[in-house]
Amino acid sequence: MDYSINEKARDALSRLAAMPGMAQVKEQVEQMVQYRRIAELRKQNRLKAQPQTNHMVFLGNPGTGKSTAARLIGEAFAEIGLLKRQNGSVPFVEISHGIITDSLVGASEKKVASKFKEARGGVLFIDEAYAFIGKAEHRHDDKVIATMVQLIEDMRDEIVVIAAGYPKNMAEFLSFNPGLASRFPTTIHFPDYDVPDLIRIAQQMLLEQEYQPSSDYLEALASVLWIEKSRPDFGNARTVRNHVERSIRRQAIRVSKLQQPSRKDLASLTAQDLVASPHGLADSEREALIKIIREAQSRLLKLDLNAIISAN
Ligand SMILES: Nc1ncnc2c1ncn2[C@@H]1O[C@H](COP(=O)(O)OP(=O)(O)OP(=O)(O)O)[C@@H](O)[C@H]1O
Ligand SMILES: [Mg+2]
Repeated sequence: MDYSINEKARDALSRLAAMPGMAQVKEQVEQMVQYRRIAELRKQNRLKAQPQTNHMVFLGNPGTGKSTAARLIGEAFAEIGLLKRQNGSVPFVEISHGIITDSLVGASEKKVASKFKEARGGVLFIDEAYAFIGKAEHRHDDKVIATMVQLIEDMRDEIVVIAAGYPKNMAEFLSFNPGLASRFPTTIHFPDYDVPDLIRIAQQMLLEQEYQPSSDYLEALASVLWIEKSRPDFGNARTVRNHVERSIRRQAIRVSKLQQPSRKDLASLTAQDLVASPHGLADSEREALIKIIREAQSRLLKLDLNAIISAN
């Protein structure tokens, strides 16, 4: 008897595979799936199969795809039996310090426990996990973490716990309680996207919504992203989504002025639909932008952005 991955799991895995970037998470998930497949075959051949701990730490800046990847992993794992599936859809429960904290004695621990229960058969995603320990000068009560550590261990067959946050803070979080680090055997890095990947992401988002970006739109977007990438509040794929949504709204206004817009008019996005930045660019940034665009020309060739644009 063969052990195969069913269609739903394959669908979740191929949606993950189709997302630009995120090389490490794709490789790691593939390894976990293959391990599971072999463990199943070993069982069928009456060989011992070592159970696996699937909890993970996701390290990355905002908008690098951590939540999205965690959801798809939950769906795929439930389908292949890595999670004990209940009925219906796969739970994805997100917790953060803000929604758990309660000033009543013992209430925070109770909330944590009920969230773990809710996530049975799916993923419990702890966003900005380090917020649970507080700042170095003011540490929070250890009881919530202790409850978590216990539940992570007790429910390891039923849920995958994914703790996410920035690299530096997460190191502090994991060393806070001696039980924590050993319960998260896998760490996955979500690096910031480079501009060609951000452009691929924009293309995917637009294609999904049946818009056709022109090459000058993509070039203009790339230039804006070069600038925005260096700002501290840059939101990676989330920034791209915001650009895409603003462009779609501006395109609608432009097209509404046409007498009888054609199908092509309705689908096309051009550079004039791009809203450069919500706050506009300051003069110094505009100068820097021109300089960067010039410098980028040669880099773009190397990074095959031109190929992406002309394939469009
Ligand atoms: N590789 C990708 N391809 C397409 N869309 C992406 C990709 N990565 C992220 N996105 C989109 O970008 C947005 C932000 O992604 P997500 O919420 O997963 O990021 P995050 O790392 O969890 O961010 P945060 O740390 O702020 O919670 C979502 O709309 C998501 O669909
Ligand atoms: Mg998130």
